[in-house]
Amino acid sequence: MPPDGGPDRPDGPEAPRPVDGRRSELVLTVNGTRHTLVLDHRTTLLDALREHLGLTGAKKGCDHGQCGACTVLVDGRRENSCLLLAVAHDGRAVTTIEGLADGERLHPLQEAFLERDAFQCGFCTPGQICSAAGVLAEAAAGFPSYVTGETSRSGAPVPLTPEEIRERMSGNICRCGAYPRITEAVADAAAGTEVAGP
Ligand code: FES
Ligand code: FES
Repeated sequence: MPPDGGPDRPDGPEAPRPVDGRRSELVLTVNGTRHTLVLDHRTTLLDALREHLGLTGAKKGCDHGQCGACTVLVDGRRENSCLLLAVAHDGRAVTTIEGLADGERLHPLQEAFLERDAFQCGFCTPGQICSAAGVLAEAAAGFPSYVTGETSRSGAPVPLTPEEIRERMSGNICRCGAYPRITEAVADAAAGTEVAGP
C-alpha cells in the first residue's frame, strides 16, 4: 500500500511487484478485506480465492470457462474466475458468494433462491447467484442482451423477462437442471430489488 494510503490500484511499471522470476506480490480486496499475496504468475483468481484465501464458495467445475461455477464479481462485473490470472488483477475488488450478504441479512438473491428452492446439489449455486447479481446490475444499467428487443436498446433499464433471464444466465450450467426455479428466483429478486447487484 502506498505510504500515503493512496489508490488501491498502483499504476506504473512496478505493479504488481516481482518477488522472483515466477512470483509477484499483489493486493486483492476481497469482500471488503484487503489481502497482500505473493503468488505464482500462473495462479488463477479462482485458485487464489480457494487455495490461498480459504474462500471455497466459488467452485471449480470445468476450469475452462464453460460452466460458470467459478463466477465472482470483479469491480462489480461478473467474471469466470478460472479464466483470470490473479497477478493481472492487482488492486481490484472481488466479491464472492461469501461477501454478498449484509452481515446476517442475506442478499435478495440468496433469499429468493432459498424461497424458490432453486437448487438440488448446490454445486453451481454460488456461481448462479453471483452471476445473477451481475445480471441485475447489467439490466438496471441498460445493457442489452441478444434477446433484448430493439425498443429496449435505449440505455434504459431492461425488464428482466424469463427470456432475458435465461439468455443472460446461459453461461451458468446446472447439472441438476434446476433452471426453472433459478429463473423464477432471479425474477423474484429483480422484481423486489431497486438497487441491483452486491
Ligand atoms: S470452473 Fe470456471 S467456468 Fe467452469
Ligand atoms: S444444483 Fe446441482 S448443479 Fe446446479
